[in-house]
Amino acid sequence: MGLGAPETLFAPAKINLYLHVGEKRPDGYHELDSLVVFADVGDELRIADGERLQFRADGPFAPKLGNDTDNLVLRAAETLARHAGVAPNAHMALTKNLPVASGIGGGSADAAAALRGLKRLWNLDIADAELKAIALSLGADVPACLLCEPLRLEGRGETIVPMPDFPSLDLVLVNPGVALSTPEVFSRLETRTGTNSPIRPFHDRNALIAQLERSTNDLEAPAKALCPQIREVIDALCSDPSSYVVRMSGSGATCFGIFDSAEDARVAAATIADAHPDWWVRAVKTGG
Ligand code: C5P
Repeated sequence: MGLGAPETLFAPAKINLYLHVGEKRPDGYHELDSLVVFADVGDELRIADGERLQFRADGPFAPKLGNDTDNLVLRAAETLARHAGVAPNAHMALTKNLPVASGIGGGSADAAAALRGLKRLWNLDIADAELKAIALSLGADVPACLLCEPLRLEGRGETIVPMPDFPSLDLVLVNPGVALSTPEVFSRLETRTGTNSPIRPFHDRNALIAQLERSTNDLEAPAKALCPQIREVIDALCSDPSSYVVRMSGSGATCFGIFDSAEDARVAAATIADAHPDWWVRAVKTGG
């Protein structure tokens, strides 16, 4: 069987519109209930045939990537190859546009893109459920990142309910440049909302905003204890009169504000970036 063609995959930023944490499970993970969307900013992964497994990274956040042993893209390639019984041969080149360890799933999105691309490159006959199990073994967010569409996430991250006809949103994403460790944030968690929020179809933007105003990110308090700059980021987003819901995504430190229009988001992003030239600030649109 011949190999697939070289491919460029988009690995979009993941945003947790809310994130409610439930019980700690016997496997050490927590039950989650989260509404997840994906933005039009992200990393880019180029995959091509190669004689061995090679990885290189460029882009603004490439210098912040960890060493090869904890590189999720390489782990994705090795895990998939082992599972399929093929040699892990590929050239992978990542343009790292998203801040690392920042609550918007950059590493998870990169790993999911690697799984999707390598499945095609190696012509693997792997069922979606198998790919999802491999994804989950790499990280709780990786199965969601395989889908890249609005979804509700439950369990440790393995239960995924797609949200069809979900409204597209104009957001501003802001990261203060501080990397946060997800296990460390979870270890400081004190208040848990629980995981039984109602499942709604959310076709209507106003209904969605109303629901988001009643929800929260349980990881925001422990993340703020580790990274006080999150308060400044939230204040900067809240001080814009056209922002609606403002909160942190994932285990932080990236926060988002929801705006009425792309223009409002663009103006707010420009103002925040002017005042904080060392912060990462992007006006984005999420997929509907
Ligand atoms: O799966 P992932 O590597 O992203 O998880 C990192 C850490 O975050 C876990 O080791 C665990 O401490 C915490 N976590 C959790 N419950 C989840 C997801 C992550 O406690 N559902």
